[in-house]
Amino acid sequence: MSKPKILVARATFPEVIERLSRHFDVSHNQADEAWTKAQLTEKLKGQQGAFTTGGERIDAEVLAACPGLKICANMAVGFNNFDLDAMTAAGVLGTNAPDVLTETTADFGFALIMATARRVTESEHYLRAGKWTRWSYDMFAGSDVHGATLGILGMGRIGQGIARRGAHGFGMNVIYHNRSRLDAATEAACKARYVSKEELLKTADHLILVLPYSPSSHHAIGAAEIAQMKPTATLINIARGGIVDDAALALALRERKIAAAGLDVFEGEPKVHPDLLTVPNVVLTPHIASATLPTRLAMANLAADNLIGFLVDGKPLTPLNPAVLA
Ligand code: DGY
Repeated sequence: MSKPKILVARATFPEVIERLSRHFDVSHNQADEAWTKAQLTEKLKGQQGAFTTGGERIDAEVLAACPGLKICANMAVGFNNFDLDAMTAAGVLGTNAPDVLTETTADFGFALIMATARRVTESEHYLRAGKWTRWSYDMFAGSDVHGATLGILGMGRIGQGIARRGAHGFGMNVIYHNRSRLDAATEAACKARYVSKEELLKTADHLILVLPYSPSSHHAIGAAEIAQMKPTATLINIARGGIVDDAALALALRERKIAAAGLDVFEGEPKVHPDLLTVPNVVLTPHIASATLPTRLAMANLAADNLIGFLVDGKPLTPLNPAVLA
């Protein structure tokens, strides 16, 4: 019997390709060519499954051109590259890769909080530029993380991981805002207090964004929200580009409306707003919050598990639109 055909749209671990090849007739992109949407659509024609990352847009147009497609398995917890309604309407299952990246991503969120508060990259650039001639009492003086108020916008699994690190590791006062309030046991485990978005903005010393992107979270943080923050506050975005209005943030940083920002994700990435590249008080990283080798391998294997689970065994692990299975 012939094997189902799948496309792996981006380069991934060779052992995952090898694993997939045991079950599927695999086309891959190990050269990691940057395909346009039209090229991706061409490659997807005739495939039953796709291994995608957050960069491949799967929408009604793509789906209409690929009627044989049955599943797109994202190697990412985020899935704003999927038009899930269109996928459901077309009977195409979407899956994501939750849980396996939670602790790694929470670690990175904390790394960015620390680097931003303590001006790590700004001071390193100064040193590398040969500008460091002597010690001085206020040179690159930043703000404390321990004992400060940590605000978390979006309190899913990763937000909770960051809360636990802040409360238990750094003695922080943790407040959060979320679409829905957590149950009392989870709040107690995270030592986190639910507040309104307004109180979160006004009270946080370090505000971290961990909410999913959707049309309703587009520019959840813009000029009006930044204006409510303390002038000493820092803002960290490890969620998705587009949740922050990057142009407004760059201006606010230049005008010192807030002290600093740490950004791992950007509107229209991999392009970065040019003004963010010229303000000194921002730490910029290229969407690497989940990037440790063990975690990225676990994410790739979970995407593979979903493809095998669905196309071979009829039971995907982490379906996003289970209506398709009914
Ligand atoms: C995710 O998993 O959504 C990350 O942003 C991709 O690395």
